[in-house]
Amino acid sequence: MLIVSYRAQRTAGVYWQNAAETWVDIQTSETNVVSSLVNFVSGSQKTPPPAAHFMSESGIVDAFIMLGPKPMDAFKQYAALTGTHELPQLFALAYHQSRWNYNDERDVTSVSAKFDEYNIPMDTMWLDIEYTDGKRYFTWDKFKFPHPLAMIKNLTELGRHLVVIVDPHIKRDNNYFFHRDCTDRGYYVKTREGNDYEGWCWPGAASYPDFFNPVVREYYASQYALDKFQTVTADVMLWNDMNEPSVFNGPEITAPKDLIHFGNWEHRDVHNLYGHMHLMGSFAGLQQRDPNQRPFILTRAHFAGSQRYAAIWTGDNFADWSHLQHSVKMCLTEAVAGFSFCGADVGAFFGNPDTELLERWYQAGAFLPFFRAHAHIDTKRREPWLFPERTRQVIQNAVIKRYSYLPLWYTAFYELELTGEPVIRPLLAHYPLDKEAFGVDSQLLVQDRLLVRPVMQQGVSKVDVYFPAIDDKKNSDWWYDVDTYQRQERSGYVSVPVDDFKIPVWQRGGSIVPKKERQRRASTLMLHDPYTLIICLDRQGKAAGSLYLDDEKSYAYRQGQRIHVNYEFAHDQLVNSFVGKPKYKTLAWIERIVIAGLEKVPSSASITVNGVSQQLEVLQHDNTVVVRKPGVKMDVDFAIKLNFA
Ligand code: GLC
Repeated sequence: MLIVSYRAQRTAGVYWQNAAETWVDIQTSETNVVSSLVNFVSGSQKTPPPAAHFMSESGIVDAFIMLGPKPMDAFKQYAALTGTHELPQLFALAYHQSRWNYNDERDVTSVSAKFDEYNIPMDTMWLDIEYTDGKRYFTWDKFKFPHPLAMIKNLTELGRHLVVIVDPHIKRDNNYFFHRDCTDRGYYVKTREGNDYEGWCWPGAASYPDFFNPVVREYYASQYALDKFQTVTADVMLWNDMNEPSVFNGPEITAPKDLIHFGNWEHRDVHNLYGHMHLMGSFAGLQQRDPNQRPFILTRAHFAGSQRYAAIWTGDNFADWSHLQHSVKMCLTEAVAGFSFCGADVGAFFGNPDTELLERWYQAGAFLPFFRAHAHIDTKRREPWLFPERTRQVIQNAVIKRYSYLPLWYTAFYELELTGEPVIRPLLAHYPLDKEAFGVDSQLLVQDRLLVRPVMQQGVSKVDVYFPAIDDKKNSDWWYDVDTYQRQERSGYVSVPVDDFKIPVWQRGGSIVPKKERQRRASTLMLHDPYTLIICLDRQGKAAGSLYLDDEKSYAYRQGQRIHVNYEFAHDQLVNSFVGKPKYKTLAWIERIVIAGLEKVPSSASITVNGVSQQLEVLQHDNTVVVRKPGVKMDVDFAIKLNFA
């Protein structure tokens, strides 16, 4: 449990590490009855600071205090304690297409083909529980999926991935190898009488492996080896769901507190760690299966530190505008609590969103770290082409936008691994002096470079956007609309017009954002595509930013096969400088430089590489200046100077 509190000058946090049922009672001056009474009696006007009381049912408590003093310091201190995400494979940051369920092989293949037919990028198809033989994980339904390997090959040849669900409840069926193994070897969680605990979940009667036992985790991990789980390939990734654990007939739909785990711990002591231990087994399984591929796992249950193994989503949401709004709030909360890789079911799990809600959900999802459409089995099919042409275009537009910003997301995740700085951030992370910004939870920052205010209300033609102040004099950064490059120069609320296509996003003046603007069917096919750098100038005519690149898949980056480069623009000149030696070999190059905020239009530009200079063409476009085809490779030092006649 993490609590962080802010004041203009100071941020502090408490991390209460305990895995039992925990309540936190937060008292503000209005709810603090004792101090209100004292004030009343004494006539004092003093308002006490808010107080938080932590109450855990059992177990061991460790409490850590994070002293800040700035919000980002506190977030990083928490990350230093609990760890950060590993850099994901790039495809994991692209668009995912899921539903409960894609019915059979034909369905999977035809949905994938339709994305191509309608020119909507898509990286990953997902299979929910119905792909299995009667919810026996590590098996396939042989009627609906007679040729899983051929189906997977079809996808991977297109540059796409498959994710399959593997839940922790194990069907109690003596003909199921996994159940037999767990029974024979005593791997299940036990009742207080020492019997295998039996609950009810998707497969019917089920038992639950005791992942607290390292031997059980090892057994579980070994099931992912390709000589065991022969009907997948090393490119198939994983969804671990229902790992709270979910028990339909259990108290509060989970496991009874008096169950016994390895080491004689009662379930009450360790309940909130069950999902985490499950993930440890899965993560080890995927790493052992292919030591050179970064695993991708999506999990529902998580504990402090689970970010080292998996991404999360916000669970089973409803097709309702308030749930769309909660997507942003919940992911921001997770991000400052160490879990940047978060998203919500786009379009919602329960119910059938109307076209407007669906469109807006895609637009918000395109600017949250984990971007997946998903739906309940009872909902109407909702692949983008099943809607009127305009809706399909709005969705296509949002997805393409996501893909164009993948270099920024990827860089942000690398920098998260390096520093612990959340990928998405609430305004207060960078504007701690602005009290008004504290409460804004409908907007998010991507690093400190983009400000996103998704449209999350029905039927609106404008939204109020809050531009934060950098000091107590209400001075503000400059913010450039990423579609028009029109600039906001003042802090405060601004009413911004929005049509159905509009995703209100601004780039901060003073930042440089890397993009890729060639459209492909999947992110994996963009590996060697050229980059565009978007430079938005601040009041001093300066900007800075960074870019990270590698093979987007393996661990070679840990051996130095990477390029991490800083860009700086000042005095009409752009220069780069490498962090470490740029060792990764890529065919990519810089295709375009877009500069917003120049006072005058340059007549030309020149690039200097290794002492040799060359003229470059410069165009004026909307509110920007575009330097065309610098053509420089990503691992080369250069300087680009704007020339004014
Ligand atoms: C749970 C998950 C949901 C999934 C369903 C069936 O409700 O949260 O995403 O589709 O189980 O596996």
